[in-house]
Amino acid sequence: MRGEHKIGGALSDKPKGLGAVAVNSAADLNHGTYASRAKAKAKADGNLTWVKGRAGDALDDTSRKILAGGRKAADAQSNLNSAPPKPDWAVGTGTENMAPGTSIFDPVLCELVYRWFSPVGGVVLDPFAGGSVRGIVASKLGRQYVGHELRAEQVEANRVQGSRLCGDDAHPPAWFCGDSRGIDKTCADLNADLVFSCPPYADLEVYSDDPLDISTLGYKQFVDAYREIIAKSCARLKDDRFACFVVGEVRDKKGNYYNFVGDTVRAFQDAGLHFYNEAILITALGSLPIRAGRQFASGRKLGKTHQNILVFVKGDGKRAATACGVVDCSDALATVQPTEGDDGLQ
Ligand SMILES: C[S@@+](CC[C@H](N)C(=O)[O-])C[C@H]1O[C@@H](n2cnc3c(N)ncnc32)[C@H](O)[C@@H]1O
Repeated sequence: MRGEHKIGGALSDKPKGLGAVAVNSAADLNHGTYASRAKAKAKADGNLTWVKGRAGDALDDTSRKILAGGRKAADAQSNLNSAPPKPDWAVGTGTENMAPGTSIFDPVLCELVYRWFSPVGGVVLDPFAGGSVRGIVASKLGRQYVGHELRAEQVEANRVQGSRLCGDDAHPPAWFCGDSRGIDKTCADLNADLVFSCPPYADLEVYSDDPLDISTLGYKQFVDAYREIIAKSCARLKDDRFACFVVGEVRDKKGNYYNFVGDTVRAFQDAGLHFYNEAILITALGSLPIRAGRQFASGRKLGKTHQNILVFVKGDGKRAATACGVVDCSDALATVQPTEGDDGLQ
């Protein structure tokens, strides 16, 4: 298409039409009982934000990028511990303090999920917060985001970014530091309008050496903990509301898929939700075309270049849609600059 077209206007939009928010004291959630323990542990280890993963063909492109050239050396440090500076383009974006190589959630996907599946002014509960993107986009779209994340250094970096980018917003994002298996207690008073997350994909990326980090577990234990967190998060979701998890399939050590996507669907169903929508997020090809031939020839493995966006509903889909209100994309569409002879649409 010709002309300038920006689908995702979230990062420059101002929230509008804010409604009442059901979270009681989001600021209080920022002081987790696990925070000081995790911080002390991280300090003692001298090993803050890092991501370990698999080697060779077991890695997907994201993990491959994360572990690529020099990453291990960079990971031995952290953003809070003089990690190498990011490039010039990162100055002023609020991402300077991010750990090098940490995978970044797609902000456009984030904007679409908020606009389609949550009401303006609604509360978003994220049990595997990771980086700051879901929180910042929520704030810019007038949603009250509450993220739960185990790693204290990641929460700290998120809070720095959140206060820099969202300090003047009506509902700045809040991050709680702790094991999400305790989310029933830490978020006991929270009534969420959307559960939204991107969990660890089993042990594909290992986020820390904390035994509470579920990415450190064998698959069976991982699924048990994962199901517990999903059940407890969904218990905090209001009736007639949506939940959305972004996941991707993972291979076991023999190269067979675990059926992580299926296990995610089953976990939500067992938590009482209905499987409602699936969309495919096509991810960058990266080095896949170079690797695909080899892994196909040796084991008939097909290259994967997508992730699964799973949408669930608690209660009734039509009532959930009504609760979300009409999808407002006027400000995003307003950034389309049609050129002569072009109606601005693809
Ligand atoms: C897939 S990552 C998120 C990164 C992702 N690319 C993003 O920013 O959206 C999942 C996160 O879950 C966190 N995590 C692992 N075990 C946890 C637990 N028991 N409680 C809370 N968070 C946990 C990890 O520290 C990691 O940051």
